[in-house]
Amino acid sequence: MPKPVNADITRSEIPLSRRSFLKTGTAMVSGSLAAHTLHQVTGAEAAENLPPNVPDWSRPLGTSVDDRPYGTPSPYESQVVRRSLPWITATRESSVNFTPLHELDGIITPNGLCFERHHGGAPDIPPHEHRLMLNGLVDRPLLFTMDDLKRFPCESRFYFLECAANGGLEWFGAQLNGCQYTHGMVHCVQYTGVPLKTVLNEAGLTSNAKWILAEGADSASMTRSIPLEKAMDDCLLAYSMNGERLRPEQGYPLRLLVPGWEGNMWIKWLRRLEVGDQPWHSREETARYTDLLENGKARQFTWIMEAKSVVTHPSPEKPLLQKGFQQLKGLAWSGRGKIARVDVSFDGGINWQPARLDEPVLPKCLTRFYADWTWNGEERLIQSRAMDEFGYVQPEYPDLLKARGIHSIYHNNGIQTWLVNPSGEVGNVRLGS
Ligand code: MTE
Ligand code: CO
Repeated sequence: MPKPVNADITRSEIPLSRRSFLKTGTAMVSGSLAAHTLHQVTGAEAAENLPPNVPDWSRPLGTSVDDRPYGTPSPYESQVVRRSLPWITATRESSVNFTPLHELDGIITPNGLCFERHHGGAPDIPPHEHRLMLNGLVDRPLLFTMDDLKRFPCESRFYFLECAANGGLEWFGAQLNGCQYTHGMVHCVQYTGVPLKTVLNEAGLTSNAKWILAEGADSASMTRSIPLEKAMDDCLLAYSMNGERLRPEQGYPLRLLVPGWEGNMWIKWLRRLEVGDQPWHSREETARYTDLLENGKARQFTWIMEAKSVVTHPSPEKPLLQKGFQQLKGLAWSGRGKIARVDVSFDGGINWQPARLDEPVLPKCLTRFYADWTWNGEERLIQSRAMDEFGYVQPEYPDLLKARGIHSIYHNNGIQTWLVNPSGEVGNVRLGS
């Protein structure tokens, strides 16, 4: 097997704050092992509740239908939460938290678990006071209320959203010991809203219209330039996610969807669209969200999120608890379209076997994959490699670094390696080239 460069090796090179996180990460793994064995060690009490006895919870009447006007998960699932890294940003308002990918099944992210990325905190916007302004190179500038927007013909579509910075810290080597942190800046929900082209056509575009500026109503006033071709293709003005109104942190009452493209462009709390004939070169498309190459030049407007995948089970947070049959679970996605195939390796990329793609497989959406395997307590290097319907194959790190150099943060879609130890614990490692 190729020799892994263990996360431990990078610990001495990273700031103290990160080191202390790595310790927390390890503690978290053993914590989940302890939680799993809880029902066994408290066996004396639990035996009363085991068959053929009637358990405690089956005797009294349960809670009433009036007790949960808005339902929440079982208290036994309290570990299934978004998590953040306090040291990752200078302030808590301009920061990020991460989706617990390792705890989820299927392809839909529950609304309360979608990672959040804000540059100026999440504003609290009364919907009746919110307006969407449409100005610039249009025949008729328009101002919409939320009720106006909801009168247009609507569509519901499933899309993933991935922050361009997902995995940014992993660029140089294995850093964070948990798939929530290495890959959790992605979520996937079913949105409902109005196609952007419907609203643009309502205003009428002038013949020199080429670009759209989208602007948020948060204190960061986030602005991004979107080429007209994309705006008229599949962009959506969404007011709902997973059947209910957007959550405040996801842009309530209105957000722009730019399917398959970097999350930064999906302007939340959308208050203005300006039509222009050239891009605006805002902060978020110059100082940020550009990729510095080895030759000192930077790539700009690298919008598409290329094919990527991660094994969510096993993972650092989901160690192997028993030998024998194992169900490998993972997620794959491509900003270009559908996932065509995912291969998995158990020996660090020497041998590959096709994973089983779970239905539905939708374009620009998370795809769930599974593989059946057997673990007999030996060390394993587990990887997954996604391929999209256009034949693009997720790269290995040596190839990614060769093409992009060492200064990048954004658009890291390198193949992740998990090291399964004989104890069943799983670590984040980087294979040498
Ligand atoms: N829109 C506004 N108005 N303000 C923001 O800070 N953050 C962007 C984008 N849209 C942001 C925004 C970034 S960088 C990402 S990755 C996504 O929103 C995150 O969306 P989410 O919070 O729903 O996960
Ligand atoms: Co982002």
